[in-house]
Amino acid sequence: MSQRTEGTTCVPWPRSAQNQALAPHRAELHDLPAGPALPRWMQTLAFWRNVERFMRAGRRRYGPMFTVRVFPWGTVVVITEAEMIRSVFTGDPELWRAGESYEMLAPLIGERSLVLLDGAEHMQVRRRMLPPFHGEAVRCHEQAIAAIAAAEVQSWPYGVPFELTERMRAITLEVMLQRVIGTAEPQRLGVLRTALAQAVQLQPRLLLMWALPALARIDPWRAYNARLQHAKDLLREEIVRRRADPQLNERSDVLSLLIGAEELDESSLLDQLTTLLLAGHDTTTTALVWALERLVRHPRALARAREDDAYLDAVIKETLRLRPVLPAVTRRASRPVQLGGYQLAAGVTVMPCTLLAHLSPEHYSDPEVFRPERFLEGEGAGYTWIPFGGGPQRCIGATFAMSEMRIVLRTVLTDAELLPDRARGEAIRNEHVTLVPSRGGRVLRTGAPRTGERSQPR
Ligand code: HEM
Repeated sequence: MSQRTEGTTCVPWPRSAQNQALAPHRAELHDLPAGPALPRWMQTLAFWRNVERFMRAGRRRYGPMFTVRVFPWGTVVVITEAEMIRSVFTGDPELWRAGESYEMLAPLIGERSLVLLDGAEHMQVRRRMLPPFHGEAVRCHEQAIAAIAAAEVQSWPYGVPFELTERMRAITLEVMLQRVIGTAEPQRLGVLRTALAQAVQLQPRLLLMWALPALARIDPWRAYNARLQHAKDLLREEIVRRRADPQLNERSDVLSLLIGAEELDESSLLDQLTTLLLAGHDTTTTALVWALERLVRHPRALARAREDDAYLDAVIKETLRLRPVLPAVTRRASRPVQLGGYQLAAGVTVMPCTLLAHLSPEHYSDPEVFRPERFLEGEGAGYTWIPFGGGPQRCIGATFAMSEMRIVLRTVLTDAELLPDRARGEAIRNEHVTLVPSRGGRVLRTGAPRTGERSQPR
């Protein structure tokens, strides 16, 4: 790899007066930090195959700010330092367009999804969606989540290794069904459970459909789209039924609170509900699996997390620091802008890299080591810890996710004795946009079933 990005000048902005006089126009279009000169398709392959390796190599070779060319965004300036990330997250939302940078998600979550909106429209819809995500509203779900987790843990086998991913997926799906959509009637719950289980789990090869939309006409893409459409039809029915529910005002699930606000029309509501399911399911599942994957390999931390809720919170934060689930977020510059001494052209995507920001030796002692105590000692302040992104587009479900993780982990640690199936930690693997444990989080449950427990291998 060369020290320069193809077609860039790699010269910081503002330049000397002499340089500006020589090539001001060219600089305006092409002034980018250095980065790999490999063709775009090769960088794209390297990025999607192993984003962790790709990002670490970029940081090592080019420093804290570098340029890559990656599908589907095109020219991407990766930024890794807290202060620069803060300036983007807290900058003008009309300039730093998050929705535009996520536009490839439209076929999945719907054109009117909160994720795809920017500026004033984003603020308006987000304000309407906020009530179910405030601390008070989130606390209403605690008991139900604990019961869902306890029922699932009861079914875990003893003495044979199993993958946590499927088990955590079952819990987070049930939480979505009962507490986000708020379905209670058993038959309806069964139909939705089957349909959503098939739709919310994104397949890695879905990425190809962004590159070649024509693939949507053939299997397996056609089949996935049909499953997604079926799930959306059921969700639409759920919205209609709930609107007509005379007890709507007494309900505490997320959908009922959104309907109660009465300011989102039906098609917007459907897109927002689909978004909540797709944005909240795989992410929370993966974060839970990583937390247990780390804890079973750190028995002292596990023992303390069992006894001490503040420490359990620190474990969750440390897990999201070292294994942030989503490696980066994006913003697209809507007009030319200066950043870090460079003059970026309109249309450039800026990518605050969560993964690298979380490994900064300036902000974290022994940054590669799993040490939850650091969060009790004051590390992780401000924009040095950004697993949920930041600014006006920061994850709306962050409080919900943290609360769900706390309750599920507390239940698992109380009800099950787990050991790793191998001493060595699991590697980070790309699965479409998330970073998952390479072996699905394999563990072994020790001890023996209590009377009445229905342990069963899957
Ligand atoms: C550990 C679990 C989760 C992680 C790591 C996570 C992470 C993220 C990240 C990185 C973003 C983008 C933020 C940005 O661009 O600055 C985001 C946005 C979003 N997340 Fe989450 N998320 C999680 C759970 C959830 C849950 C449980 C829900 C809902 C029930 C949810 C709903 C959303 C929505 C709607 C957005 C878009 C917000 C907006 O554009 O205003 N997420 N999330």
